[in-house]
Amino acid sequence: MLTTVPRGTKDILPNEVTTWLYVENILRKVCQSFGYQEIRTPIFEHTELFKRGIGDATDVVEKEMYTFLDRGERSITLRPENTAGVVRSFVENKLYADLQVQKLFYIGSMFRYDRPQAGRYREFHQFGIEALGSSAASLDAECILLAVTVLQKLGLKDLQLKINSVGCSNCRPQYRAKLQEFFKEKKDELCEDCQSRLERNPMRILDCKNLHCNELVKDAPVLTECLCDECRDHFTNVQHFLDSVGIKYEIDHNLVRGLDYYTKTAFEVQYPPLGAQSAVAGGGRYDGLVEQIGGPATPGIGFAMGLERIILALEKQNLLSQNLKFTDVFCVCNNSDNFPKMFKIVNELRNKGLSVEFDYSLGSIKSQMKKANKFQAKKTLIFGDDEMTRECVILRNMQTGEQKEIAIENIFNEL
Ligand code: HAM
Repeated sequence: MLTTVPRGTKDILPNEVTTWLYVENILRKVCQSFGYQEIRTPIFEHTELFKRGIGDATDVVEKEMYTFLDRGERSITLRPENTAGVVRSFVENKLYADLQVQKLFYIGSMFRYDRPQAGRYREFHQFGIEALGSSAASLDAECILLAVTVLQKLGLKDLQLKINSVGCSNCRPQYRAKLQEFFKEKKDELCEDCQSRLERNPMRILDCKNLHCNELVKDAPVLTECLCDECRDHFTNVQHFLDSVGIKYEIDHNLVRGLDYYTKTAFEVQYPPLGAQSAVAGGGRYDGLVEQIGGPATPGIGFAMGLERIILALEKQNLLSQNLKFTDVFCVCNNSDNFPKMFKIVNELRNKGLSVEFDYSLGSIKSQMKKANKFQAKKTLIFGDDEMTRECVILRNMQTGEQKEIAIENIFNEL
């Protein structure tokens, strides 16, 4: 074999695509009921979009981007996420002029160069939404509710919703300074990554996975206690809206998210049995991002869900039917004289919307019936020699084993 798929990527094979389509269908239906419309943006963008949008000091930008110079010597990056791309499109196409709130969703591949492991890939797929144009707490709650609704419609259980407020440009600088002050004395005890985060991005220390850093974080100042009045009221209102629809959540003071654009509400949905990669969805508000990308000051909020992780969770909870693929009718014929007649009928049945299969190799009746079973056909039509002289075929119900002779002209009615 010449080569294999690149590390961290995988083929989605035909039997798996059925599952993907099933999940995507549910996502689309929920988006439609919440009034979100699909947007499709390029898979690559100019590198500066992600540097400016996501933040230079984030792991995604520092370590994980697939960046290259194209033949015109422009720096191009395969999108590691899609909020920056959607906001770029919102600004470039002046979508702010259209509606009071633009509610958009997307489904597609993202790329991050990270160490692959279960639930973490270099090419993965996100379903995400972005709502631009309102700073109302009800929009935050609606966004979280959409994520929860999707997960509920898929039948997933045992998920944990965690929420936090990461403040805004008024209150966060004071909190950052407090954190730096707190960790300064403990710098030597922090892991190597956190030592460099201390200067550049001290809030990321709060969600470091290192056990000793976790211990130190326990006594660190809490962000929600340092929020300005506006951020505090907003966070309280978001909770009221969530309470009003009976959504259960936990406030996690250490949930800071890995991308720099977040302001106020941040949230994640976790499914702990997935282990280290337990976040199935994550998002939050980003009230400064549109302006940063060159648009008019416009608040926004959104989230993205990792589809591979959703499918892993569905598998773990046995929520995927093994028989998503089925065939309505399998046509059986072992006589080359009758074959063209059967071929014509196969075509007519397909045109009427039935899924129909047959054996291309004209094997024995017995081997063709075996194939019908493999295809999980609900019915078979047997074009036997005797029956064909009478313009008839045998219709067999594969579930009950019952069979009867029917006239060719009645095939469609009988099926
Ligand atoms: P994120 O937390 O970086 O947020 O990614 C969202 C979700 O994508 C994660 O919760 C996870 O399910 C999935 N994911 C991330 N990286 C990988 C990977 N390497 N392999 C498999 N799945 C992965 C964002 O991307 C933000 N753009 C979300 C957002 C939208 N915030 C506001 N609007």
